[in-house]
Amino acid sequence: MSYVAGETIKKLRKQKNMTQLELAEALGVSDKAVSKWETGKGLPDISLIEPISKVLNISIIELLSGENITNKNRSSNIMKSKLYVCPICGNTVNSMGDVLISCCGVTLPALDAENIDDKHEVVAEKIDNEVYIKIDHPMKKNHYISFIIYINSSKFEMIKLYPEGNAEARFFIGGGGLIYYYCNRHGLFRRKIDRKGQL
Ligand SMILES: [Fe+2]
Repeated sequence: MSYVAGETIKKLRKQKNMTQLELAEALGVSDKAVSKWETGKGLPDISLIEPISKVLNISIIELLSGENITNKNRSSNIMKSKLYVCPICGNTVNSMGDVLISCCGVTLPALDAENIDDKHEVVAEKIDNEVYIKIDHPMKKNHYISFIIYINSSKFEMIKLYPEGNAEARFFIGGGGLIYYYCNRHGLFRRKIDRKGQL
């Protein structure tokens, strides 16, 4: 099975004389997201495949039968944790080093954290030894926060979230660490958190 290739999106977009921003606006994503798809650094969520095919005037089968995706974003820094999310099934993989991962037949790029905008802000509150994390974000079936992860020096903890639930989680805070959270439409976000629960 193949998934939509960035080069296919780019080719079709150019044939339609659309800019990345015009395509992004038609799909309700950022132009940066479109740029990432086209350069193989990101993949559109599966809920966007039908809208993309409509905007680009192509059948879903044709859209998906473009070239296979190859990972052009391999990390060379083995000290950095990398996150991979399958756009089809939502499977999430954390890797401490350089790795080539595929899921549902799709080669997954390591995700870069996005700049936090006002629609993806997070608040944190320390309660005893725990930090309570909340993201004020829609939790609808096709647009929601699908997980929150807390990584500190000794552990990796992931809370899976579901549509119609709340975008919140509690973690043992330890000495502080990193919070990651993932919007299925807008990508991965990251904040540092200190041992007092301050972002
Ligand atoms: Fe979002």
